[in-house]
Amino acid sequence: MEGQDVNSKDEMLPVDGPGWSYVDGVLHCDGMSLEDLRRSLKRNYGHQGSPAHIYSHSTLVANVKKYTNALSPLGERGVLSYSLKANNNLRVLEALRQAGVNMATTVSGNEILMAMKAGFAATNIIYNGTGKRRWEVELAIKYGVLLNLDSEFDARLIADVAREMGVRARCLFRLNPALNANTHPYLATALADSKFGVEFHQLEKVLQAVRTGESGGEEHVTVEGVHIHVGSAVSRTQVYADIARAAARTLREFPPQIRERGWPRASTINLGGGLNIRLSGLSGKNEERPATPEKLVGAILPLLPEGSTLLLEPGRSLVATAGVLMTEVLGMKVNGERRFLMVDAAMTEVIRPALYGAHHPVTHVTIPSSQERAVMDVVGPVCESGDFLAHRCMLSPSPSSGDALVVWATGAYCSSMASNYNLRPRAIEVIVKAPDLYTVVRRPENFGDLISCYM
Ligand code: LLP
Repeated sequence: MEGQDVNSKDEMLPVDGPGWSYVDGVLHCDGMSLEDLRRSLKRNYGHQGSPAHIYSHSTLVANVKKYTNALSPLGERGVLSYSLKANNNLRVLEALRQAGVNMATTVSGNEILMAMKAGFAATNIIYNGTGKRRWEVELAIKYGVLLNLDSEFDARLIADVAREMGVRARCLFRLNPALNANTHPYLATALADSKFGVEFHQLEKVLQAVRTGESGGEEHVTVEGVHIHVGSAVSRTQVYADIARAAARTLREFPPQIRERGWPRASTINLGGGLNIRLSGLSGKNEERPATPEKLVGAILPLLPEGSTLLLEPGRSLVATAGVLMTEVLGMKVNGERRFLMVDAAMTEVIRPALYGAHHPVTHVTIPSSQERAVMDVVGPVCESGDFLAHRCMLSPSPSSGDALVVWATGAYCSSMASNYNLRPRAIEVIVKAPDLYTVVRRPENFGDLISCYM
C-alpha cells in the first residue's frame, strides 16, 4: 500500500481512440477539457451532473470507419450492422448511422422501435431472439425486419404469424456451430450446450417447422441465409475463420429441398459480432491483443462462397472505446490491508466488473502534480460487497473529495445494462463533438422518474 512513483505516461490513455488526449495534464474529449465539461454539467444539472457517461464523437466515427474500410472490398455485399444492445442511446445510434453503419441488430421489439426511431429502415433491421414474443414477431414481420430462426418453436411462431398476416417473413437460420470462442463463460454463445441457435443436424427439423407452422406456412417464410454468433469479447482471428467455414458449409449443404422451395438465393452469411477491444496501461498485465476489423474480415474473405453477402454485427468494438464514465471522489478509507476510494458511480452504472470480472482502467481527469501513487480499489456507494468499479488501480494516495476520475471503455454494455438498484437514478449521457460543442443526449433521471411507475 506504500505510495510509489509511476511514469505518468503509463496512466494516460488506456484505450485507442482519436478523441481522447491529455492536454497539460487534463483529459480532453474531442478537444474539450473534461474539467470544463464537468463544471458546465454541474452548473446546469447540479448533483445530477455526476456521474456522467461521456462519448467522443470522433472515436465513434473512427470505429465505424475501421469496419467500413475493412468491408469495402466486398462493395455492397459487405454490410455493417450495429448491435443495439451494446449502447441503445438514441443519439449514439443516429451518430453511428450517419457515420456509415448500414443496419441495426436488435433483440427485442423495443430495440426494433428504437432502431427505426434512429432512422434505420425497417428492412435494414435484424431481429435476433431466443424467446420472441408474438407481438414482437408481429411487429418485425409487419415492417419487413429480417428475423433469425433460433429454434423449432421459434420457426413455428414466425411461420404462423406470417401466414396470419398473409405476408412473407424474411429469415436467417441461427446456427450453433459448437465452437469455443475462448471468452468468459457468460459471453460464449456457441458452445454445444449454449441456449442459442440450432445445431446443424437440426436444421432439417426447423425447416419442417417452417413448412408446417401450426397449420402450414411454408410460402410465408423466405430463408435468406445463415447466422452465427459465437460470443463476445473474442480476441482471436482464427475463431472467425472457423465460423466462416461453418457458415459456408451450411449454405453449401443447406438441405436440398430449400433450393426447390423457392429460396435459391439463400446467400447471406451473418457472422455476428464479438470482437474485443484493446486496453492497455494501468493493469500492468499484458492483455491479449484482439484482432482488428481488418484482420477479421481478411480471415473471412477467402472462405466466403462466391456471390454471398457478408454481414457483421458488432456492438462493443464500435462503441466501447468511445465512452468513459466520469465520476467524483467522495472520500477514502482504509480497512485492513485495502485502501478504498469511494466515488459517486457504482455497479448501477458499470456492472461489468461485478458480473464478468471485467477490467475497466481508471485514471484521474487531472493528473496530480505529485507522481506518488498508491494501490486503490475504486468502489461505489451501493450496498453490496460486489460493488466495485476497479480493483488495484494506481492512483494518487491523497485524492480530495470532489476530484474527478474516469472509468474507461464504458461506451458498451454500461449505460445499456444500468439499473436503479438502491433507487439510484440513471446517469446523464453526453456526446462531445468539439472543444465547445457538447450535447446532453440523455437527461439524468430524478426521483420523479423513479416513482412514476408505481400505481
Ligand atoms: N450479435 C449477436 C447475436 C449477439 O448476441 C451479440 C452480443 C452481438 C452480435 C454483439 O456482440 P459484441 O460485438 O458487442 O461483442 N453484456 C456483455 C456482452 C453480451 C453480448 C451479448 N451478445 C458484456 O458486457 O460484455
